Amino acid sequence: MDLGLTGKVALVAAASKGLGRAIAEEFAREGAKVAMCSREESAITSAAEDIERKTGNKSILPVAADLSTREGCEVFVQNALGAFRALDILIVNAGGPPPGRFDDLDDTAWQKAVDLTLFSAVRLTRLALPQMRKQKSGSIVYSTSTSVRQPTQYLNLILSNAIRASVHGMLKTLSSDLAKEGIRVNAVQPGRIATDRLVQLDTDTAKRQNTTPEAIRKRYEETVIPLGRYGEPAEYAAAVVFIASPKASYINGVSLQVDGGMLMSMF
Ligand SMILES: NC(=O)c1ccc[n+]([C@@H]2O[C@H](COP(=O)([O-])OP(=O)(O)OC[C@H]3O[C@@H](n4cnc5c(N)ncnc54)[C@H](OP(=O)(O)O)[C@@H]3O)[C@@H](O)[C@H]2O)c1
Repeated sequence: MDLGLTGKVALVAAASKGLGRAIAEEFAREGAKVAMCSREESAITSAAEDIERKTGNKSILPVAADLSTREGCEVFVQNALGAFRALDILIVNAGGPPPGRFDDLDDTAWQKAVDLTLFSAVRLTRLALPQMRKQKSGSIVYSTSTSVRQPTQYLNLILSNAIRASVHGMLKTLSSDLAKEGIRVNAVQPGRIATDRLVQLDTDTAKRQNTTPEAIRKRYEETVIPLGRYGEPAEYAAAVVFIASPKASYINGVSLQVDGGMLMSMF
């Protein structure tokens, strides 16, 4: 299937590793021009070089930017626009807020998580919209979490559970507001995709349950995920890239979970 991505400009946030990195690589393979960012300059540059090597796509722009700040979001979008002079697709992604229980988290921890998870989404969207409006088309995908539909109690992720829900409120509102301007807005929700973030979460859960991260993963794979395994970042990226692409032109305002069947809700 030709996704219609050749020559399109895709911005992928938080992409030196994990889900963002896999999404950037998939866009590169589809012939898009890709701007990708993360905080560590060396990490994002080497990820971009690696993607170039693997895909043969020479239009990959690495940008060092901290998405938890207004300046970082501006640096990312302005560099991408400066290099590619267009913006067709925005993938909103960021590092995950730290695990913690309500009693462990003060205002500073909440504010940091709001800046990282909610304000990065607000700011990147605000920065991308003028160019998308000029082009009279665009596609925004928020990469969030299945915890938006079903928070998992023992994962200890109250920051993520609380703040990602507001990103979904924003996405559903924007998807109807922006449709008449030719801009689609959707979300994709990872369940348990094997990245460093999952190792961090499984290690945290294991410590509190006096067991090992391997045992936590095994429990998920044997009893929680119908497909019986964690997902691969490339499997997640395939769904994100399709929803973002022109081939998904009538998909708007949806939230797709990519979780091997883990969530048991009907929709
Ligand atoms: N993996 C899953 O199954 C899963 C499930 C549910 C939700 N999620 C969420 O999806 C997001 C990505 O997860 P992942 O598994 O890909 O994590 P990961 O493997 O730890 O990768 C995180 C990426 O984000 C970048 N990053 C972190 N903080 C940043 C910041 N302030 N500004 C710019 N870039 C930043 C990191 O690079 P630098 O360190 O260089 O900045 C890295 O490239 C997280 O929010 C996570 O909570 C993941």
